[in-house]
Amino acid sequence: MMRPFVRLCSLILATHAYSSSSAHHSPVIPQVEGTPEILGLVADPRYNRDSCGSSDFGDRTFWTCRDTQLFYANGSVQVEPVITSTASYTNNNSDGTPVLHPLPAERDGLGYTTLRQYGTNSIKQAFFPVLADECSPPSGSCSNGSRFALWPDLPPMVADRHKDGTLVAYTWIRKSSINSDLSTNIANPATTLYRVDYHPNMGNKLPKVNVIDEEFYAENEIPFGNYGNVVRNGIAYLYAQVNDTVSLAKVPVTSVQDRSAYRYYVNSRWTKRRPSIGDAGIAIPNASAGGQGTYYYSEPWSSYVWIGGVTAPGADMYITTAPKPEGPWIEPMHFYTGVAGDYFLSAYSIQAHPALVGSPRNNSIFVTYTKNDLDSEGVNVYTTPLVYVQWK
Ligand SMILES: *[C@@H]1O[C@H](CO)[C@@H](O)[C@H](O)[C@H]1NC(C)=O
Ligand SMILES: *[C@@H]1O[C@H](CO)[C@@H](O)[C@H](O)[C@H]1NC(C)=O
Ligand SMILES: *[C@@H]1O[C@H](CO)[C@@H](O)[C@H](O)[C@H]1NC(C)=O
Ligand SMILES: *[C@@H]1O[C@H](CO)[C@@H](O)[C@H](O)[C@H]1NC(C)=O
Ligand SMILES: *[C@@H]1O[C@H](CO)[C@@H](O)[C@H](O)[C@H]1NC(C)=O
Ligand SMILES: *[C@@H]1O[C@H](CO)[C@@H](O)[C@H](O)[C@H]1NC(C)=O
Repeated sequence: MMRPFVRLCSLILATHAYSSSSAHHSPVIPQVEGTPEILGLVADPRYNRDSCGSSDFGDRTFWTCRDTQLFYANGSVQVEPVITSTASYTNNNSDGTPVLHPLPAERDGLGYTTLRQYGTNSIKQAFFPVLADECSPPSGSCSNGSRFALWPDLPPMVADRHKDGTLVAYTWIRKSSINSDLSTNIANPATTLYRVDYHPNMGNKLPKVNVIDEEFYAENEIPFGNYGNVVRNGIAYLYAQVNDTVSLAKVPVTSVQDRSAYRYYVNSRWTKRRPSIGDAGIAIPNASAGGQGTYYYSEPWSSYVWIGGVTAPGADMYITTAPKPEGPWIEPMHFYTGVAGDYFLSAYSIQAHPALVGSPRNNSIFVTYTKNDLDSEGVNVYTTPLVYVQWK
């Protein structure tokens, strides 16, 4: 469990120790300029959807989300079907900034769609398909009451981009089997590698998804790429998290499907030998605050960045930075708390959206989280507040 107060005190000390230099070799200590601004919601008004993340698909932004339900015309949630994952697009202006509908003065930002998602999802199959041995599509529900919760923890990692705008992206999803009380049947499940192929001018049609390997990582192997990933200079850096330990692999972007091309960061060096869960020397200290989040590269800071949450529910947002993917990472610092929902799992799935920042030189970031409220019928309603953060 994280201790935000202790972390905040360390932040003050760290700020004194280093100042906010952006030189390549010294740690970058982020500082928020002014107050983060709630811009409104990211939504496709047809869908009640959990935990969205975004990827830069060039001509527009691509989103994947977890469990999705439809709304009835009267605004109530249609309880069935539950789709384990869906996808969407949002549009950007020619300068790369998102097409936002400005928040009307009288609205609080938590009930108004500022960034509109679109795209045609099937209600029979999930975007990342539920496979033959994963019980019934699109929910993954099994006859004994358990469920394959094939939830994307992250949006697809864009690996290979071509001049004509076509691109290849990958997502690693654990074959989690859960029960209705959210307990898990398999401690470290196998991980499926899905590949997304996109070309511009697809309109409302979503890109094609292929299963590269249902068990790309076997049960009890470290699921690199599932906890986080960041591409820089042709190399994909792939983070895993098992039992609170974050570890790291890398692979050229053109060889993501080839396990023999992977290298692992163990005992402070890159090695060909694949480590196992629990091995000594695999931890990347301070590379996250423990919860779900996003890794990306910041040009203004010449640094790798992680933004996300702690393991407990809530909209407390943390950031950490490092000059290299393997560190050293600064101690994660708290920088913002969003408005939480009234359900006991009030907020979670904090994500950063570098794809929405128009220019890579712009020293700002958009963040979202899932706000979870109960409606008057006791049904969960998920919303995705969009928050803009300007850094000093
Ligand atoms: C909304 O419509 C659905 C489907 O017709 C119905 O089951 C539900 O009770 C309605 N909800 C409200 C609040 O009227
Ligand atoms: C979206 O932004 C990118 C730059 O990030 C630009 O190349 C592209 O043309 C923009 N899309 C549209 C539809 O203007
Ligand atoms: C940075 O991006 C934000 C959000 O799109 C925009 O409002 C702002 O003008 C940009 N700043 C610069 C210096 O380009
Ligand atoms: C239900 O099925 C799942 C998936 O096949 C299995 O892992 C789990 O142990 C089963 N649960 C019970 C109570 O049998
Ligand atoms: C991971 O944590 C669980 C629960 O705390 C524990 O039972 C298990 O032994 C741990 N696994 C490893 C490899 O450390
Ligand atoms: C985490 O970061 C802080 C601040 O940079 C540092 O003092 C601490 O030693 C780091 N922890 C580890 C385990 O490296």
